[in-house]
Amino acid sequence: MLKNDQVNAFKLSGMAVLALLCTANPVHGQQATDADERAADLADQMAGQEKHNLLHGILAMPVIPGTAMPEDSPLGSGYVPGVSRLGIPHLAETDAGLGVAYHSGIRGDGATALPAATAMAASFDTELVERAGRMIGGEARAKGFNVMLAGGINLARDPRNGRTFEYFSEDPLLSGILGAASVRGIQSNGIISTLKHFAFNSQETGRHVLDVRISDAAGRESDLLAFELAIDYGNPGSVMCAYNGLNGEPTCSSDYLLNQVLKRDWAYPGFVMSDWGSTPGPEAALAGLDHQSGAQIDPQIYFGETLAQLAQSDPRYAQRVEDMNRRILRSMIVAGLLDEERTWPRPIDFEANAELAQEVAQQGIVLLRNRGNALPLADSAGSILVVGGYADLGVMSGNGSSQVMGQDGPAASIPMGDLGPLSFMRAIDLHRSVPLKAIRDRAGAAIITFNDGRYPQSAAREAAKADVVIVFATQWMMEGYDVPSLSLPSGQDELIAAVAGANPNTLVVLETGGPVLMPWLDQTAAVLQAWYPGARGAEAIAAVLFGDVNPSGRLPLTFPRSLDDLPRPQLDGADTLVPSFSNAENRGQTVIADYEIDGADIGYRWFANRGIPTLFPFGFGMSYTSFETSNLQLTAGSHPAARVTVRNTGGRAGGHVVQVYTLDGPANIKRRLVGFGRVELDPGEAREVHIPIEPRLMANWDSDAGQWVIPAGSFTIAVANSAEDMGISSPLVMQRRVVPAGLN
Ligand code: BGC
Repeated sequence: MLKNDQVNAFKLSGMAVLALLCTANPVHGQQATDADERAADLADQMAGQEKHNLLHGILAMPVIPGTAMPEDSPLGSGYVPGVSRLGIPHLAETDAGLGVAYHSGIRGDGATALPAATAMAASFDTELVERAGRMIGGEARAKGFNVMLAGGINLARDPRNGRTFEYFSEDPLLSGILGAASVRGIQSNGIISTLKHFAFNSQETGRHVLDVRISDAAGRESDLLAFELAIDYGNPGSVMCAYNGLNGEPTCSSDYLLNQVLKRDWAYPGFVMSDWGSTPGPEAALAGLDHQSGAQIDPQIYFGETLAQLAQSDPRYAQRVEDMNRRILRSMIVAGLLDEERTWPRPIDFEANAELAQEVAQQGIVLLRNRGNALPLADSAGSILVVGGYADLGVMSGNGSSQVMGQDGPAASIPMGDLGPLSFMRAIDLHRSVPLKAIRDRAGAAIITFNDGRYPQSAAREAAKADVVIVFATQWMMEGYDVPSLSLPSGQDELIAAVAGANPNTLVVLETGGPVLMPWLDQTAAVLQAWYPGARGAEAIAAVLFGDVNPSGRLPLTFPRSLDDLPRPQLDGADTLVPSFSNAENRGQTVIADYEIDGADIGYRWFANRGIPTLFPFGFGMSYTSFETSNLQLTAGSHPAARVTVRNTGGRAGGHVVQVYTLDGPANIKRRLVGFGRVELDPGEAREVHIPIEPRLMANWDSDAGQWVIPAGSFTIAVANSAEDMGISSPLVMQRRVVPAGLN
């Protein structure tokens, strides 16, 4: 346990603060036992039809004919009727991790859009992500929801994944810890949050027909570890299984994933809900699925009458029905859903929430290049040309079920075309936060002009006349569709090259869902990675451009040099799968996605372990000041830790992310992030930072014994500036140790 002064010694060390918070979490201890008893008692009192009420729900959107919409609940992603005789309320479910989903305005209201989860992850700021979760959970509750389908933590196994923007990172520790923080924040409102998509849902195109192949050990040390950590540190009330298959089984009827890994090995006490339309059949109940979501999308309501009949003749089903109800009720009780009458709508302080969204965007922006200190922009710039990226209209957002929009809807909605009932969702929706205006508001006397960037030659002609050029480049992503390449679409590479060729003082702001290639990089003066920056994205970008905010974001994903350097230069299924939201065109085929190629070596581990150079490594990010790290001290034992002194050696206050990695160790352990934290320092200031090391990152998963084992021997531990710049390092000798399940 840390002493108070150690906690204060650094503004925020993710895991230290987490450890403290988790000890105080009400789901542990007596209260959990009480919830179990109360849930069991209620489940016992259920009779007849009541036993199946909670086991299936609908998509609560009027898009599929024949389903009556709920009258006692807001429209949204899902609705599950309660059992009024027993005082059990309904469940009202909304997406997702970036705020209360807009669903094309079906409710006629909007919400506060956080920046992409990649931006949140770039902050490496556990406390900030928890506050962001608290904010969106507060809006969900104020709008009448009591379940948020938020907590997307799939690892970025491939940067082309169309939901990269919705997840956090490529690293199990970072994703697990930040996913937990988001869940804790959301659930602090007395609602349930949902970790998803369990598991290995790392591709979108053809997601319903992809069958992932990966071994137990590789899975446990990568994608599954993120879930394990997020469950231990976040206590989510529910977990959502995924559309894809795993080693020949749909994940929603995978006995291995649901019964063995989740419920047996991790002792998960909450409930598993299916993704919408991903329940394979009633037998999934025996494999560990507790709830059929969006049941009208499936061929049948399996978890209603069908399950009831099976339960009458087969005690295994009868037992499961009991257990399914208990689990759902337990999570409802822990969230406090049974203990108060909830009224909605309640007022929301949109102004305060937008300020928080801006803070997240600012902390998440990553400065990738800054030739000759081109940034921050001097107040003396006489003329600035802003080019492209819809910078005169708004900022980019990612679409799909997680799409959030402000109260007045999108600034512009550009249809991207598709077939089927959900085709209206396929559009580029821009938030009402306008970069051109934000730059004008901040640039004082400078003359600001705009060129839409459609014709590179005309943009270049105007660029030649300006003191500074800021090009906004965008890459739109959407659930259901992977991007086919990492190049900026629609000729933006040619545009940037032409503009930078005409004016060397060209700055590029990237609003992308994930990594992109940058063939023009050397021609530019500076590059900012702004992700999808949310409700106040433009203001955040302007604050960094003009130096009101010192950038401190670090990449949560590797930016590769070429698709050829990825584990799968061509995605499995790229030749046969039809990109489509409904996926109807792909039914009937099975595409094997071979994740054993990279195994647990996702992202930077893949590149570092094979010596493949990157464009920008995981953990990379520049600042307007400089930092020096010294005096590394390591502690072994059951609570390993690193202690290091960080000094701000530059002329501006700024934030620094302390990244602790293993470089090598016994039993073939190689590069892994094992701990992280942040420190904010004034110019000249130095502080000692204490970073707890997560024991499971020092261990290998022993599949035969079914346990985490730290091998005996000497590890090289580095406090690094990125996954490629290893800073200072020191040996750490560990004894062999079995790491017990759960929090240590
Ligand atoms: C998505 C889930 C989402 C659900 C409900 C599915 O298509 O994969 O992430 O929570 O829809 O909207």
